[in-house]
Amino acid sequence: MNTIVVYKTKYGATKTYAEWIANELGCEALDAKNVKIDDILKYDTIIYGGGLYAEIINGLHMLTKNMDKLKDKKIAVFTTGLTPPSCRDYYDKMVIEKNFKEGLPENVRVFNYLGKMVVSELSLVHRTALKTLKKIMQGKENPTEMERLLVELCDADGDFCDRCVIVDLIEYVRG
Ligand SMILES: Cc1cc2nc3c(=O)[nH]c(=O)nc-3n(C[C@H](O)[C@H](O)[C@H](O)COP(=O)(O)O)c2cc1C
Repeated sequence: MNTIVVYKTKYGATKTYAEWIANELGCEALDAKNVKIDDILKYDTIIYGGGLYAEIINGLHMLTKNMDKLKDKKIAVFTTGLTPPSCRDYYDKMVIEKNFKEGLPENVRVFNYLGKMVVSELSLVHRTALKTLKKIMQGKENPTEMERLLVELCDADGDFCDRCVIVDLIEYVRG
């Protein structure tokens, strides 16, 4: 199997998953900052991981702007974030629709994993962004269930990475 894992990370959660996946599949995991699209075209299966920031998958444009070159590849995208796996409807609507504006291509599957947010490690910009988001959500008169959940997620503090959850991605890649 000719497979590569590429990841982009700010606080290490996505790198952790990328290394678990690469270890499971016996392939390499490369930091996206050292990778150009031409470097990965020689692989048949490409796994891309990025953290979620305001519902944007960190660095995914590397793939989305090159979909024409990647149409014959098997692609797995995984995200790490605080969106619980049980919120898949929200995830499909807000994350997949936002990141795949042309629609999700048939050769791409997207997996959502819990990441980490250790408040003491966050940059000032990120801490401020989370405070602002929380204020906006709290200011809503009739918040949706998801908006209420987002207020709670702004207060998350911990490492929720879990190696067991990668089985679905591994099965998809091997299948
Ligand atoms: C400013 C900021 C915005 C975030 N936005 C989201 C989000 O929209 N959805 C989500 O599920 N998690 C969100 N998170 C949580 C991160 O995605 C999570 O910490 C992730 O594991 C980070 O991955 P990384 O360490 O590989 O960069 C956000 C975190 C920060 C600091």
